[in-house]
Amino acid sequence: MTIKACIFDAYGTLFDVAAAARIAANEPGFEALRDTWPQIAKDWRDRQLQYTWLLAATGGHADFWRVTQDGLDWALEAAGLDGDATLRERLLALYWELPAYEEVPAMLAALREAGIRAAILSNGTGGMLDAAMRSAGVSDLFEAVISVEDVGVFKPDYRVYSLVEKRLSVPAEAALFVSANGWDAACATGFGLPSVWVNRAGQPEDRLPWRPAHRLSDLTGLPDLARRG
Ligand code: LAC
Repeated sequence: MTIKACIFDAYGTLFDVAAAARIAANEPGFEALRDTWPQIAKDWRDRQLQYTWLLAATGGHADFWRVTQDGLDWALEAAGLDGDATLRERLLALYWELPAYEEVPAMLAALREAGIRAAILSNGTGGMLDAAMRSAGVSDLFEAVISVEDVGVFKPDYRVYSLVEKRLSVPAEAALFVSANGWDAACATGFGLPSVWVNRAGQPEDRLPWRPAHRLSDLTGLPDLARRG
């Protein structure tokens, strides 16, 4: 079926989540991050995602901003940096202005040129996503920004993926769901959305009952892939 829309995960797919710790590590006053930032970035992201899964599995919910703070607090304590309130505040502020990966603006422009619609479907709150899009300069390139807050549950609950058809009035088979999170791409396929896994880190594929329909190493090849259907 012809692809009419590309639906993007946000964090890790369009926006570089490791950038907050990496940028702070080069700022004066945060020397403690010089060697520890990669581990802090990893722990922060891992805990943040684990908390979203646990909340979704138990029927509990807190928004992504709360979960992002909780994940960071775990990571800072693990690194022995939980007493540094200035560092915490700076890392959280940077999370609101994460850079987009460098190929993102040209890729979105190529989709637009090809007449393929682009939207975001993310765990992030509307406010977080608007801020990230503004600071990355890509706000005008998305027709819709869909937050899981519309259904009050995190991915991979299928109510989240069902928002694509509801909000964009596009049949699932004509939408390509694009995520750098292997579990997100796999679960979207499980729901019935054809998916693309953007394997930026060259990781092994997740062993889940569903597999992504396509694999890319970054987003550069997406417009061609979408045009081919
Ligand atoms: C998101 C997370 C999963 O943007 O990266 O939904």
